[in-house]
Amino acid sequence: MKKRLGVNIDHVATLRNARGEKHPDPYKIALEVLKSGADSITIHLREDRRHIKDNDLKILSLNKSIPINLEMAPDFKMIKIALKYKPSFICIVPEKRNEITTEGGLNLKKNRSKIKKILEIFNKEKIRTSLFINPLLQDVNISKELGTKCIEIHTGKISNQIKTKKNYFSQLNNIKKCAHYAQKIGLEVHAGHGMDYKTTKILNRIQEIEEFNIGHFIIGESISHGITKTVKKFIKILR
Ligand code: PXP
Repeated sequence: MKKRLGVNIDHVATLRNARGEKHPDPYKIALEVLKSGADSITIHLREDRRHIKDNDLKILSLNKSIPINLEMAPDFKMIKIALKYKPSFICIVPEKRNEITTEGGLNLKKNRSKIKKILEIFNKEKIRTSLFINPLLQDVNISKELGTKCIEIHTGKISNQIKTKKNYFSQLNNIKKCAHYAQKIGLEVHAGHGMDYKTTKILNRIQEIEEFNIGHFIIGESISHGITKTVKKFIKILR
């Protein structure tokens, strides 16, 4: 099975917004990302619009050759926006106003009926649905019950354990069990959050994970890899 890569370009927008101008341009970067072989572009339209803005979603959506995975909170205002732009994929994520990033998976028990209704709406529109969940068998079961097509397992905890050289085996085991069980009951399995090269290598050994959504590390690495070329270009202009 070909493993898919979705690249989250939120932090291209973070960098652009730092100056309030147009550079770097998330749309241009999305085209480069796809040209490089990635399978989809992930964006999170947050309630506070701290990175991706409505206009980014609009411009990206106008190009129907860009497979967009829209991450959104289970919120009815967001559904209206999503139905207007009809991305290829929707991933429902929890959202807290003051968090730096999405800190954990959805609280499925608390939001059961709301999430079920939201999934019904998008399934009817033939938009692929996914729920961002913690690696818990109970949450895999509830996800199936609510009618999602896919789950995305939150890999923030294991990524952190790997990066800080802590024992990650129990967490890896939980992810393996959930991925295996989810596939068995007919859910497609994705993974995302906090991944770097090492985390990805480790998690890629889990056969059932079909899609990886990676953002912050890819954007950070791109700066490292691109800075030599860019500085040299300026030196050439100046001397
Ligand atoms: N998947 C989901 C559902 C997310 O919310 C995020 C972060 O926005 C990511 C993947 C990407 O995480 P990171 O930027 O840490 O790679």
